[in-house]
Amino acid sequence: EERGFRDSLELSSHAPSTESNRDQSDIAAPPPGFRNAPDSDPSRRRVREWGALLLERARESRLGMAGVDAARVDDAETLSGLVGRARQAGEEWAQTDVEHRAALLERVAEHLEARRGDLIEVMASEAGKTIDQADPEVSEAIDFARFYADAARRLSAVRGARPRPRPLTAVIPPWNFPVAIPAGSTLAALAAGSAVILKPAEEAERCGAVLAEILWDAGVPHEVLNLLVIDPQHLGHALLGDSRIDQAVLTGAYETAQAFLEVRSDLRVLAETSGKNAMIVTPSADLDLAAKDLAASAFGHAGQKCSAASLAILVGSVADSPRFRRQLLDAVRSLHVAAAWTPGAQMGPVIAEPEGKLLRGLTELEPGETWWVRPERIDHALWTPGVRGWVEPGSFLHRVECFGPVLGVMRARDLDHAIALVNEVDYGLTSGLHTLDEAEMREWVDRVQAGNLYVNRGMTGAIVQRQPFGGWKRSAVGATSKAGGRHYVASLTDWERADAGP
Ligand code: ALA
Repeated sequence: EERGFRDSLELSSHAPSTESNRDQSDIAAPPPGFRNAPDSDPSRRRVREWGALLLERARESRLGMAGVDAARVDDAETLSGLVGRARQAGEEWAQTDVEHRAALLERVAEHLEARRGDLIEVMASEAGKTIDQADPEVSEAIDFARFYADAARRLSAVRGARPRPRPLTAVIPPWNFPVAIPAGSTLAALAAGSAVILKPAEEAERCGAVLAEILWDAGVPHEVLNLLVIDPQHLGHALLGDSRIDQAVLTGAYETAQAFLEVRSDLRVLAETSGKNAMIVTPSADLDLAAKDLAASAFGHAGQKCSAASLAILVGSVADSPRFRRQLLDAVRSLHVAAAWTPGAQMGPVIAEPEGKLLRGLTELEPGETWWVRPERIDHALWTPGVRGWVEPGSFLHRVECFGPVLGVMRARDLDHAIALVNEVDYGLTSGLHTLDEAEMREWVDRVQAGNLYVNRGMTGAIVQRQPFGGWKRSAVGATSKAGGRHYVASLTDWERADAGP
């Protein structure tokens, strides 16, 4: 009986992502009329001129500063007042018609497209994103708006059940995708009938402020989307401890998700967390392509992506191939490292002067390792990329996410051994394989423990609708559905049995 009810929601086949990534039911035909937004086309001269202008502006940009000041809250009493008003707005928002919410999200998509330049400018200025990384991030935010508009409409089409929105969602995004991730989480919650308190990452508050302003301009009521700038050390506990908040959508470290769960037992935490992702290259691979994809996946946005390749696992003869090694290291050394607003920059800074795990990854070799490419510090947060090998099974670099521009290289006897090395780590976010052998592809897909699998291509940059994104093992917390997949919005609301009726 219960199972039949859940089946009708199309949710039953969706196992929690912490348990399995085998389910592909969240990939379905695109909604009618849905197309992924195209990135800007640099083959057009006007686009190149526009890009140059944006980068010029980014150097001195003040975008978002006023918005951050207006959203700052310093004391618990003011915070409590804000949560109370947001809750009230959420109770009303939950009653709105899905068509109203869907149409609003479609308007948001138009406004995001119109403000693409501002979003790129503030991402380059505040978060060190090069234009080739920032532009697709705007496209992704637009895709979320359009795709979740369709998901909102589908909420009312579920037979035998109706959504009971959770009135208030706290959205806690990371700084490394300071537009796409807060946009995706916020828009999904709004689509599901929830008001939102958006607390941008401290390193990317201005990005959050520009994003919120765009949503308000598109017609999202201010009380329904609340931008909140706080010092989380001081007020984070007061925020999440407030029982008027139903759920927290977090993208961040696994430890942060665990800390959220300890704040109060009835807080629903839906989190996409850390990764320690490997790309396997077998002797059957197109080695030129593998080297290129590896360099891009490891060092795009200076390796500061939860999806980044931080390990290369070279199988059998690939490990001993001087040609492959030269191809890879030449690709890495060729990356143009410079401030994000420098024309032609391919790799920008790390978000802050490295410390802890990242500093160790960039400076301290483990036993048995040598620098294949030694990272150099150009400026306090600007580092050239590093490659180190051979990383020993079970060592620091095999297991620990450093979140920066360092790639560890491991050797494996065969594919079986390589898969074992991947599955040994605690996380399971993305995983890559380069091979032209179909039997190897099948074996790897069947056995590798990761939420997002990429064969013969780079392993970052999941596309809304086509590649729903979410982790397995310690890369996810809470029974969250994959972002950008067809069940995500439905997973942010409760459901009740519909009365028999017309
Ligand atoms: N969704 C981001 C990616 O796929 C993290 O790279």
